[in-house]
This record gives sequence, C-alpha cells and structure tokens, in this order.
Amino acid sequence: MTPVEQDPSRVLIFDTTLRDGEQSPGISLNPSEKLEIAQQLARLGVDIIEAGFPIASPGDFEAVQAIARQVEGPVIAGLARVHVADIDAAWNAVKDAARPRIHTFVSTSDIHIEHQLQSTREDVKGLARAAVAHAKGYVDDVEFSPMDATRADVEYTAEVIQIAIDEGATTINIPDTVGYTMPHEYAAFLGRLYELAPGLRDVVLSVHCHDDLGLAVANSFAGLMAGARQVECAVNGLGERAGNASLEEIVMLLATRQAAIGLTTGAVTQEIARTSRMVSRLTGYAVQPNKAIVGRNAFAHESGIHQDGVLKERTTYEIMDATSIGLDANSLVLGKHSGRAALRQALAELGIEVDGQALNTAFKRFKQIADKKKQVTAMDLEALVTDELREEIPSYALAWFDVEASSRRSPHATVGVTLPDGTEATGSFTGDGPIDAVFHAINVASGQDAKLREFRVDAISGGQDALGETSVVLELGGISGAGQGVSTDIIEAAGRAYVRALSNAARRRSVADEAEAATADAAKRTPTP
Ligand code: KIV
Ligand code: ZN
Repeated sequence: MTPVEQDPSRVLIFDTTLRDGEQSPGISLNPSEKLEIAQQLARLGVDIIEAGFPIASPGDFEAVQAIARQVEGPVIAGLARVHVADIDAAWNAVKDAARPRIHTFVSTSDIHIEHQLQSTREDVKGLARAAVAHAKGYVDDVEFSPMDATRADVEYTAEVIQIAIDEGATTINIPDTVGYTMPHEYAAFLGRLYELAPGLRDVVLSVHCHDDLGLAVANSFAGLMAGARQVECAVNGLGERAGNASLEEIVMLLATRQAAIGLTTGAVTQEIARTSRMVSRLTGYAVQPNKAIVGRNAFAHESGIHQDGVLKERTTYEIMDATSIGLDANSLVLGKHSGRAALRQALAELGIEVDGQALNTAFKRFKQIADKKKQVTAMDLEALVTDELREEIPSYALAWFDVEASSRRSPHATVGVTLPDGTEATGSFTGDGPIDAVFHAINVASGQDAKLREFRVDAISGGQDALGETSVVLELGGISGAGQGVSTDIIEAAGRAYVRALSNAARRRSVADEAEAATADAAKRTPTP
C-alpha cells in the first residue's frame, strides 16, 4: 500500500535530479557520484528516485543498477520510451531494487506526434498500450507520462491515459514538458482529465513541471491543489533548459504552509541544505545566492530594520527557521589535533561512512586543511570529502602546479596533469592573471582546447581562513562541462574545478561521438529503399 493509499493528504516526492536534472547542459555525473547523491536522497526521505534513463548509455545503465542494488528506502524508477528495448533496459537496471518502477512515456501533443515522432494519434495510442502492457509483464509499479500534455488536446490525452490505466499503469504523470502552462490552466487541465478519464481516480496522479516561465513550482502546487499526490521535482531545480520544479521549494512550501494547505510529505527537511550542497558540488552547478530556501542569502538579513527585528524576535522577518532545513550544520567542529577516529566519528555524524583507504585519504586532506585553518567545521568536512573521495577515473586530474605572479610581470604557470591513461603531462602558459595562466597551462598539458565560460569563487564558511570553493563551466568542441573544487588556496581550488569540468566535457564528448558512430554504422548497414 502506498503512503497515498494510506493517507489522502500525503504527497509523494518523486526526485528526478539524477534523470531530468542530469539532462541540464554541462552536467555529467559518473556512476559513483550518482550513487552518492541517491544515498543522500534516501536520507532526505524522498519516496521515489528516478535514477536515470538506462537505455541512454552503458554508464546510465550501470548507475541505475547500482542505485537499485544499494539504495534502501525509496522506490527506484528507470525511464523508458515506449520501445521494447527501452523498457527491457529499464527493467534490467531496476529489477534488483526492493521496490522497482518502470516509467514509460510518449508524446500526446500534435506538435510532437507530427514533427518529432512523425506518427499519428492512432499509432501513439497503440504504442502507449503496448508499452504499459510490456512493462506490466515485469513489474506492478508502472508510471505512464503523456509527454507535452499541456500543449496537447485534452480529450485525446484523456483517451491515451485511460488506455494506460486499463493496461495497469499505477501512476499517471502529466508533464508540462516545455514549461508553457499557467497555474489556473494546469489545474483546469487536470480537472478535465479527471472528468474524461474516470480511471484516473484509482491511480496516483502526478505533476511534472518545467520552469521556462518561472512557474514550475506554482504549477506543481496548482496540480496538487487539483488532486495530484505525486510531485516530480529536482534538487536545486535542476533539469532540461530552465529546469524542473525545485524539490526544496515544494517541500518547504508544503511544510511551512501546512496549516493552510493540509498536505504532508515524508521529507526530512533537516537534510535539505546538505543535499543541495552535495548536488551543487558534484554537478558543478552553483546555486544562485538569492535562490529560495537554499540560496546563500535565503536566511540573511541585510537591512538594519530587518536585522533589528530578527534580533528582537526571529519571526518578525523569517517565515522558516534555518535549522529546519539543516543550516545549523556548522556547529560540529574539529581542531587541528583531532585524530583519525575523531574524523571518522564526525563524518559518520554527517551521514558519511568512510573506512580503510578512503579514511586515510580523507585524513590526509583534513590534516592539510587543519594546518591552515584553526577549526574545521562540518561544512568544511562535507566539502572536503565530496571533493576528495569521488571516483574520477578515467579523467584528468591536477597533479601539481607552480605559479609565478607579481604586479610587474605577466603571471606564468606550469602544471602537471594526470591524463585519463594514468600518465602525467606538463604544460606552461603566461596569462592575464594567475588563474588564467593555470587554466591555459592545463589546456596545454591535456592537449585540449577548452574555452572558459563561467568562473565563480565562494567561501564555504566565514573567517579569513575559510575554505574556498570554485565553480567552472567550460566548453570543449561545442560541448559544455561543469566542475567544482575546494581548497584553502584559491588557485588550487580553481585548477581542480577546471580539470573536473574538462573531464566532464571530454566524457560527454566521447559519449556523443560513440552515439554518432553507432548511428552512422547502423545507416551503413540499413539498405536504402
Ligand atoms: O518533461 C517531460 O516531459 C519529461 C518526461 C520524460 C516525463 O521529462
Ligand atoms: Zn521533464
């Protein structure tokens, strides 16, 4: 029995950070990074993790399978188009989960049917019927989405979803794929579907909204008010183009205004801030400072009047307590003389279990930082561990660097870069500034002609000795890659971020090249009529 069947006011949180979120330009997570995020999503208490699109690439398949095998708690879903091969791949990837789900989709808008699918309404009905039936042969928990539904004919969409329900779909998701709808329109669309497809009352209705007009959360909320009990969302609002509805905004809206709305979720809100930081670090996507809930300024007060009010009584200018999203994590502190056991214990309190070689690596890095910083806070530890313990093979890594900089000479950098085959190459460059010189020297060493698109530096915790966190977005042959790096030394943090972004872009480029080669190969083998 789903929580919704037990309690009609319970909203299921379906997290798609690892699927739709991973489709954000420049993001390329490797399987171990995806697993780390999925473990954190389980701690956050999401109900369903959409772990990926298994047919898309061997890496996607491997990640979904690892998550299905190792992450306990949430339902693990794999996405599939209506093709048999997609559904087979999705099933093979999720079948080892305690609670697997197949999520299959096909467009119902005429724009998509005519131009993208080059098909007909009648054929799409048949495809939906066959896909749900095939998925149902594997597992009871099947979700069906009529893609681009909000630009489709409502009568036709209702027919297609009734077919999916008749074939056994247990969740019907109504995507606003291109972020086009408005709250009152979306609510009316869902209301009409309830009238036209009576079976909709017997399954879970889900909402999936994109943020092209900045309405993803408002539209999702309107959908919940219209009767939906599953909301598809992503941490930090990641997703195709302008992104998906942001998980933290939906969860905190329902929690903060619970008395007025009357809906609940199973989310552990105290895990929100940490989840947001982890996703930002691993994806290389920085969170804008004024982002609701998780932006750096979301709980900051600049004006004197506001500060005065909050000092007298917090609720004068705050509708949420920062601790309710876990922003008190800075309270845990380690001194420079702390040993391995203390570090292990502190990391365990943060939900990060490390042992053996991983603990040695973390301890070495902790000592380096502790030598430069009086106190290492929980946020520092978390940043360090995410920065250091991720699997980065095969990829580029910054082995060492030398920078000569002065106000009288152009800065010159020499770097050692470990290449994906494990060998080390060096490169030198005289640049406009020390960081520019390091970035170009990395290009020389790696033999890549990457172009910097974005660069950003943030302090992790306060104080003069704060750890610096850098974010880089670069472009390599038309493909973007994002990365982050952490260190007390900004040049080192920038170099680390740059090689990560380069690795991500190179990985994406080789996946694109492989797909192109496979298409060309298939075309050669298919005889022309
Ligand atoms: O936006 C969309 O339509 C999707 C579907 C695959 C659900 O992401
Ligand atoms: Zn989507």
